[in-house]
Amino acid sequence: MNELNKDILITGCSSGIGLCVATQLRKRGYRVLATARQSKDVNNLIASGFESFQLDLNNSESIKKAFHDIMLVTNGKLYGLFNNGAYAQPGAVEDLSRETLRAQFETNLFGWLELTNLAIPVMRKQGFGRIIHNSSILGMIPLKFRGAYVATKFALEGLASTQRIELADTDIKICLIEPGPITSRIRENSLIAFEKNINYKNSVFSSQYEHVLERLKTRGPAMKGTLPPEAVLKRVIHALENPRPKIRYYVTAPTYWIGFLRRVLPYRLMDWLLIKSSKGGKG
Ligand SMILES: NC(=O)c1ccc[n+]([C@@H]2O[C@H](COP(=O)([O-])OP(=O)(O)OC[C@H]3O[C@@H](n4cnc5c(N)ncnc54)[C@H](OP(=O)(O)O)[C@@H]3O)[C@@H](O)[C@H]2O)c1
Repeated sequence: MNELNKDILITGCSSGIGLCVATQLRKRGYRVLATARQSKDVNNLIASGFESFQLDLNNSESIKKAFHDIMLVTNGKLYGLFNNGAYAQPGAVEDLSRETLRAQFETNLFGWLELTNLAIPVMRKQGFGRIIHNSSILGMIPLKFRGAYVATKFALEGLASTQRIELADTDIKICLIEPGPITSRIRENSLIAFEKNINYKNSVFSSQYEHVLERLKTRGPAMKGTLPPEAVLKRVIHALENPRPKIRYYVTAPTYWIGFLRRVLPYRLMDWLLIKSSKGGKG
């Protein structure tokens, strides 16, 4: 399909979902503008044959420069933006400092918004575009010790949903992907953020944090129902190619269950279920 020779900008292509989606979309015929936070990963991507650009979502200058350079190579066109680069800061809400929460929002929300707001005028001018936000099952429900990450994904759901309504009279489609557990480097990166930003030895939750550390150090599938990143790819392809893309794409069985249960269960029952499933921080 020749129409697939379209420009797609992806953030966070060094590992996990971003790398998988970038690799497979390129094989499918898309022109992938693969971005990564660190120059070593940009070099690896270039060595693998990608057009790659350094883009650190925490840094406005980096976002602007990457977008500017990408527009130069695409002649000012952009069919799709896959907002993906993020990390998950673990820790109880009462153990989050202002700086730690702010840092989580800088990466997972403010950087995404800034990049999206650069892409929209380009899409408005050309008359079409697809913006796909990689949200999470944790954009639908909370989970113990995930408050910072949950807050960014709930906020993303709010911004994206408002934007979808604001763009309803255009041909720019906004989609949210809601993955449950997916194999990636997310736990390795969470471990770094936990050890760096949470004073876990002096917390009232210190004994429960032992389980958090154990979980973050475990390699292999995080839990039953974990899927490979190709499960997300399938939804991204639908969001890019279907004339009527979905508003939300559930990925993994836990997301389908939660999507259903949160609509039918009373709040207290839902809380009970979430407390049970967190298994004192082990889940
Ligand atoms: N895996 C899951 O179970 C799961 C479930 C639901 C949703 N998600 C979502 O999926 C997306 C991708 O995560 P993943 O699971 O593939 O995890 P991952 O393997 O850890 O990949 C995260 C990517 O985000 C990048 N990133 C982090 N901070 C960044 C910054 N400041 N600027 C630019 N890029 C940055 C990382 O780059 P570095 O290598 O440089 O750190 C990496 O490329 C995230 O939005 C996450 O919330 C994942």
